[in-house]
Amino acid sequence: MIILGIETSCDDTALALIETRTEGGIFETRVIGSLVHSQADLHSQYGGVFPTLAKREHGKNLVPLLHRLLSDCQADIASNDELSREAFDAALEPFIKGLTQQNPDLFESLTHADFLKQIPKIDRIAVTEGPGLEPTLWVGIMFARILGALWKIPIIPVNHMEGHIVGSLLASDAPHGSWQRLKDLPMPAITLLISGGHTQLVLVPRLGSYEIVGETKDDAVGEAFDKVARLIGLPYPGGPHISKLADQAAAEHIESPVTLPRPMIASKDEDFSFSGLKTAVLYAVRDAADKETGALSDSFKKGLALEFETAVAETLSVKLKHAIDKHAAGSIIIGGGVSANRMLRERFAHIAEEYGIPLYMPSAHISGDNALMIALAGALDARPHATEPTAQGTKRLGT
Ligand code: KG4
Ligand code: ZN
Repeated sequence: MIILGIETSCDDTALALIETRTEGGIFETRVIGSLVHSQADLHSQYGGVFPTLAKREHGKNLVPLLHRLLSDCQADIASNDELSREAFDAALEPFIKGLTQQNPDLFESLTHADFLKQIPKIDRIAVTEGPGLEPTLWVGIMFARILGALWKIPIIPVNHMEGHIVGSLLASDAPHGSWQRLKDLPMPAITLLISGGHTQLVLVPRLGSYEIVGETKDDAVGEAFDKVARLIGLPYPGGPHISKLADQAAAEHIESPVTLPRPMIASKDEDFSFSGLKTAVLYAVRDAADKETGALSDSFKKGLALEFETAVAETLSVKLKHAIDKHAAGSIIIGGGVSANRMLRERFAHIAEEYGIPLYMPSAHISGDNALMIALAGALDARPHATEPTAQGTKRLGT
């Protein structure tokens, strides 16, 4: 089966094609192609994602990105089936009113997309239905519906966070296009999802069944990285910049200028809070800024970045260990964009070693948002597939 994945929950427009099969009762998959168009540079001037702009960009990007993906993957998906102009127009017709009102850019690019008349060998479309920014989710969902109507294939709504979970089960070293099995997952698995919008501990008794056992009461961890970065004058998204400064501080043995709190580490639950940590950074920055120019010294920024990263790492580690103990976890999955952080990866590796259980983290190229993980989650979804996506998030991850 060949699945097209569509991801537009935030500021990345992403499309991917995977193939799946079940050999001797074992699920196998291979990546046919995966493309991500990041809007980060565009949003960086606003210090965060600007939803209306993100929506418009997805509308502009989706059709050209799909054209590229289908051209790149011709060998795997080409067929001789072609829609007539009449059939193409008839399939598009029910969407025209909504598109012209809601997303003229997407409408404009669709009217010139003659390549869509060539029906590819795709069996299903998996699309992120939430959680995410509602206006941007709708662009992806609308696009999925249109393609589904044109090519007469079913649509599977996918929960973005479930995508991050299953994405971590792909091998990082599989040669491109080769068949691979998902990583062996002793159950129950405990998942730590750390992204720009979420910080959650999710108990996974089996794939497809998810229970949120802890989450942030305020800011997400990625959001805290982004806000701290902004406070010290670094562009959005701030996580990679903070991480780089922290590495420099460690290499140059720069002492931390302040001691930041490790929020909620004494509480005996699996919840998080990062807004106090961010506020502590705000005060530290105010105190350290030059009274006339407001400038901060380089060594202050580096030391602060390292202390912040350490505070986050210690907090996440305490909570992760607590969850492993409480649920007698047999394996650990880490998902979400913040999992790209080097210090965090090292800490999680230590924890897995300490418990003697496997740890699965996404490889660097899929730690951020991508459609590979969405296609995979759609492929693993065993529910009936008549469901319409709603942009409300599926119930299964409590959204
Ligand atoms: O999962 P993701 O790509 O998008 C959301 O669904 O939110 O996560 C994006 C978040 C941003 O907050 C970004 O600053 C953070 O991941 N991030 C990092 C690093 N790379 C990305 N945070 C810390 N260290 C990194 N190296
Ligand atoms: Zn994400």
